[in-house]
Amino acid sequence: MSTTTDTSSGNSTRDTWAKLETLATDATSINIAEQLNLPARLDRLSIDLGRLFVDLSKHAVTEEILELLLALAEESQVLEHARRMITGQTVNTSENRPALHMGLRNPAPPLPDEFIEQVKAEQTKLDSLSRQIRNGAWTGITGEPITDVINIGIGGSDLGPKMVVQALREFHTGPKVHFISNVDGAEILSLLKTLNAASTLVVVSSKTFTTAETLLNTQTALDWLEVELDVEKPQSTAHCIAITSDRKKAQSFGIPDQHILTFPDSIGGRYSVWSSIGFSICIALGFDNFKSFLSGAAQVDQHFLNAPPEKNVPLLMGLIGIWYNNFMKVQTHAVIPYCERLGLFVDYLQQLDMESNGKSTTLEGDSVNSETGPIVWGQTGTNGQHAFFQLLHQGTKLAPVDFIGAIFDDLSKPEHHRVLLANMIAQSEALMKGQVNADPHRQYPGNRPSATLLLDKLDPESLGMLLALYEQKVFVQGAIWSINSFDQWGVELGKQLTNKILGGSSEHDPSTSALLKKTGLSD
Ligand code: F6P
Repeated sequence: MSTTTDTSSGNSTRDTWAKLETLATDATSINIAEQLNLPARLDRLSIDLGRLFVDLSKHAVTEEILELLLALAEESQVLEHARRMITGQTVNTSENRPALHMGLRNPAPPLPDEFIEQVKAEQTKLDSLSRQIRNGAWTGITGEPITDVINIGIGGSDLGPKMVVQALREFHTGPKVHFISNVDGAEILSLLKTLNAASTLVVVSSKTFTTAETLLNTQTALDWLEVELDVEKPQSTAHCIAITSDRKKAQSFGIPDQHILTFPDSIGGRYSVWSSIGFSICIALGFDNFKSFLSGAAQVDQHFLNAPPEKNVPLLMGLIGIWYNNFMKVQTHAVIPYCERLGLFVDYLQQLDMESNGKSTTLEGDSVNSETGPIVWGQTGTNGQHAFFQLLHQGTKLAPVDFIGAIFDDLSKPEHHRVLLANMIAQSEALMKGQVNADPHRQYPGNRPSATLLLDKLDPESLGMLLALYEQKVFVQGAIWSINSFDQWGVELGKQLTNKILGGSSEHDPSTSALLKKTGLSD
């Protein structure tokens, strides 16, 4: 909960919070099916964003709860916080930086001039480099055009581009793009065995250019290029391009300046798919499709900043999530895309949501006094139906679900697509309706909430909209919890201890020492 310094709004936030807590004690009496029969409910909670239709009406919230949640958003100054973010104020306080990813989709005032210029210049470079690679003008040292690109990166430098390239397979007209993230050497070694070095481009994607996994994978790829092409320092050739916020580090790694794409430090890793980190997307799909992806996201940003709160989709998604998370004590949130090409969307969301809001310290540095980010999980339907849906329907744990589908799919066949969509809609209905049966094993309790998000078709624009929707939802929740959604200090300790182990430290507890011995990492 926000511990805002404005005492009057702090008090009203506490009042609203207390009222919601009172309502939550009686929440089991909320009957979603009955709520749905109320006049205007469907109208009120289904919102058409053009390419994306969102139905929130099967959620376990009443009108009274929604009113209080909207009051909470107002008292927590969520939209004011969003405006502070977009105007470049320091919202990432622990790292003393702004969070300007929205500016990548619409680089225009009131953003700082310097930022706008850098984004536009980098977009021009993205366009030109990706065009040369796609049309064969960019050649390797033996004169061969590029047939294969390896994006080496991890976290935000991998998940976004990998997910988008997979999701938008229908639009792939450029060279093959492979993604290597894990330091598990079996991955890169087996990929390299299938490639021709003379026509391969290595794209090193790392905001900081310090990430151990990325640097080791890059070294392995460079060693391979060196042997296969009989060339010294392959990083200085047309076989290597770097994308980073730290140009100097890439330069000292030996990458020529004209082979370095950059993006501002104010773009967090998990928010960087909109930046030069989207280079692999441009290579695979073309820069024009990348621009459509950005424009889809920009449309949602405008909606988020301008739509009335009661029709504001990311705001409502965030608030309803707060209701489950903070008042109904629900721990998880399931996301089930009914589109196999969106399989990696869940992985992408896990970083976006859990790295942003998996925090227990407020912006002021105090311990939070309420639950923060949920555990996000899921997989594609219909596969999930044959795995974990048993628990969703009859288990003891409540897990609200977001179903995501596309109304049309040109890559599928009508009879397949009908079955796919019928399954998705049936699941949301079954979860809500349940079924009475004399046999307790065959009884479905029902009253289990879900939302359904329908893209009219999975394409660059609608995918951009979908991602921005979740980004803003995560933002809303972080603002209400008054946490910093833009840092990720929680991932640092493990990195330090890995280095300590690799450095030969012997100061470990008995379990750790035994494991190190057993694995040969210590004597
Ligand atoms: O360790 C977490 C993290 O910092 C993520 O936030 C980030 O997306 C990822 O590592 C990769 O970082 P980089 O792009 O600097 O290599």
